[in-house]
Amino acid sequence: MARRIAFINEKGGVGKTTLAVNVAAFFAQKRRQRVLLVDLDTQGHAAKTLGVDVRSGGLTVFDLLTNPAIELSQVTRATAVENLWLVPSWKEMAEFPTHAASNPDRAKLLARVLEPADERYDVIIFDAPPSFGLVTTNVLLAAEEIVIPVATTYLALDGCAEMVATVERVAQEHGHSKLRVTQIIPTLHRKTQMSEEIVEKLKQYFPKKVSEPMGLNVAIDEAQSHGKTIWEHAPWSRGATLLQQIAERIERAR
Ligand SMILES: Nc1ncnc2c1ncn2[C@@H]1O[C@H](COP(=O)(O)OP(=O)(O)O)[C@@H](O)[C@H]1O
Ligand SMILES: [Mg+2]
Repeated sequence: MARRIAFINEKGGVGKTTLAVNVAAFFAQKRRQRVLLVDLDTQGHAAKTLGVDVRSGGLTVFDLLTNPAIELSQVTRATAVENLWLVPSWKEMAEFPTHAASNPDRAKLLARVLEPADERYDVIIFDAPPSFGLVTTNVLLAAEEIVIPVATTYLALDGCAEMVATVERVAQEHGHSKLRVTQIIPTLHRKTQMSEEIVEKLKQYFPKKVSEPMGLNVAIDEAQSHGKTIWEHAPWSRGATLLQQIAERIERAR
């Protein structure tokens, strides 16, 4: 049975894709596990971060979810990282909720199409879109371990509590008892009083779940713009050390 870890937050720009790609690469490169990264966002940033071209066509997660004739292996692409495969996503994912609206099983389509992945991979990682709708519900029902990256800004605390509640509600409504929030990762962290206070509050509200904050580090941003993981682009950077610590924590959080 593969581990299934999802990065979710209804806000964009909080580090979901950065974490999903680099944590996936951590398991693949440093732990030699077979990893499948599944992108669900219309922006296709997971592919871009891995230097995989999605613009010029090819099947995506949308085809897998909406066309019963398409099988997982047909949408899975190899990446430059050994042991890491990608199911890419692209603009057509915006149509998924409308497309699936009349399907009574619409919330469980992702879980179903990924059934064959269980024996092919050791870890499945999900990069969720920045919204809470049918796509994210599908992610929650296909995953078991939920990681929430939270920007250390004023309004983020409220949002985080709501997301934790949503995960619990979806788990109950669908009888998905293995679903749980395992980690909360303070991101976009600066050494300001407000940023530090928010990390402290998160630790009070969610004891034991809050990781080291992911501070801003230019190598992390650069790696993404070069279509590389932090381990390929700048393995000795502070960003690599930070991401390694976070990945190891997620590894232990089972
Ligand atoms: N720790 C960090 N230091 C510097 N830049 C970062 C860091 N984390 C994320 N970024 C940058 O912030 C932007 C948004 O991050 P991303 O992971 O794409 O967020 P999301 O997937 O939540 O929208 C990206 O350009 C990324 O490179
Ligand atoms: Mg993203």
